[in-house]
Amino acid sequence: MFGQLEIAYLGVEIPDPSSLDSFFTDIVGLVPGAPGADGTRTWRNDDKAQRLIVSAGPANDAVLVGVEAVDEAAFEQAVAGLAATGFATTEGTAADLAARHVQRLARVDAPWGMTLEVVLGLQRAEQPFASPLVPGGFYTHGVGFGHIALATNAFDEAVHLLVDGLGFRQSDWIELPMGPDLTIKVAFLHANGRHHTFAFVRAPFEMPQRLHHVMLEVNQRDDVGMAFDRAWASSLPIPNGLGVHDNDRMFSFYVASPAGFAVEIGHGARTVTEDWDDNRPYDRASVWGHQPLRMG
Ligand SMILES: [Fe+2]
Repeated sequence: MFGQLEIAYLGVEIPDPSSLDSFFTDIVGLVPGAPGADGTRTWRNDDKAQRLIVSAGPANDAVLVGVEAVDEAAFEQAVAGLAATGFATTEGTAADLAARHVQRLARVDAPWGMTLEVVLGLQRAEQPFASPLVPGGFYTHGVGFGHIALATNAFDEAVHLLVDGLGFRQSDWIELPMGPDLTIKVAFLHANGRHHTFAFVRAPFEMPQRLHHVMLEVNQRDDVGMAFDRAWASSLPIPNGLGVHDNDRMFSFYVASPAGFAVEIGHGARTVTEDWDDNRPYDRASVWGHQPLRMG
């Protein structure tokens, strides 16, 4: 299913959605989308109607992720693949389609503790995308809005759903030695040219916040630097300063949002191809940089 699926949106639930307004607008450089009927706030990083959905609730975490099929056949194949691997979906209601701005929607409770929605036809926003803070825009065409990294103690089931159910493939993995008895494993999964759409950290127990970070890739390298300057000028934690990852070769940094999870802003990752054959272990996250710079 290479090139048939891409990440459509991420839903986050926090007690006070307005607490992320300034972060997304003034630090990350996103543009507000249309608010939802229930007071939900939405954010865009391209022409699509919404990419980040922030609703009020106690979870203080990511609660849903949308994966968009490129056409009707890909949608049907995704739904059938999920059913065949034990993850039968339910059809979205008319209200669901309206809330998500999609033509079709099928959802299932994913083993990593979030709702997974396979969707078709994510609508374009009425206004074209333009961010004064990110003049070069974000890289999303054919690869979705970015990637997400999640910690889960249902690691094997999570990989099973995406690989066997949806046809994702593992790009590579990291085994990070953290001590004599502790190695952290991270699996990187792709469905299109983006090196990874999902990264799963194998957690020994359920983490207080499963969403580690959301990555947004900008088209111009200087837009990473200018985002870094905005983050540095704020009082927000910067858990990882500028650096380059070893596996995807992304030049990036991480800034912690007021809700705890981080946003990685990057540029220049290498592109995965359909005949990708570099699925191998790495023993470090970064070639250089990414040091903890300012902790909360
Ligand atoms: Fe990342």
